[in-house]
Amino acid sequence: MTAIVQDDVDEKRRRVLLIATTAAGAALGGATAVPFLASWLPSARALAAGAPVDADISRIEPGQQVIFEWRGKPVWVLRRTPEMLDQLPKHDGVLVDPQSNESDQPEYAKNPTRSIKPEVLIAVGVCTHLGCSPTLKKEIGAASDMGADWPGGYYCPCHNSRFDLAARVFKGSPAPKNLVIPPHRYASDTLVVIGEDKKGA
Ligand code: FES
Repeated sequence: MTAIVQDDVDEKRRRVLLIATTAAGAALGGATAVPFLASWLPSARALAAGAPVDADISRIEPGQQVIFEWRGKPVWVLRRTPEMLDQLPKHDGVLVDPQSNESDQPEYAKNPTRSIKPEVLIAVGVCTHLGCSPTLKKEIGAASDMGADWPGGYYCPCHNSRFDLAARVFKGSPAPKNLVIPPHRYASDTLVVIGEDKKGA
């Protein structure tokens, strides 16, 4: 098993290895980046074909996020805390598409948490505006220059799009839609296959 921190790898290796993790913090207060595990290494052939990738999520702690790569794109796996989940229904009025009617996700993720398991968010980390990759942000509230009405979540620095922890976009952002939820299924409680739907789905 190899431990990879995002800043320690060059771009070429970063494309084929698990990238990194960021600790969100249950209180949404700290901004500590935590090096994390990396155990995913698909074959070059699988990558080229856009094959599904297996994501071992067994060691992702509540509040932590790990980034996998699928079809050349970052795919976030965030294990949301109960506090994060409690926050989600509180800001529907300031979202562009709170019910995800105009956004892209499998039918089984078209729900308030945009996920199969409420505590596990799996989303493609590519902004629906012009394709930058937003980052997980914990600094929130009036002291933030990102907007006092924003409870924290994902922030795209390219043109200031803001998303919540269900990857739903806030009004006033240039991004027109929520972030994409990729097809995925649980092969077991701790193994997610990204890029493949549930059997029979
Ligand atoms: S690419 Fe994200 S806001 Fe423009």
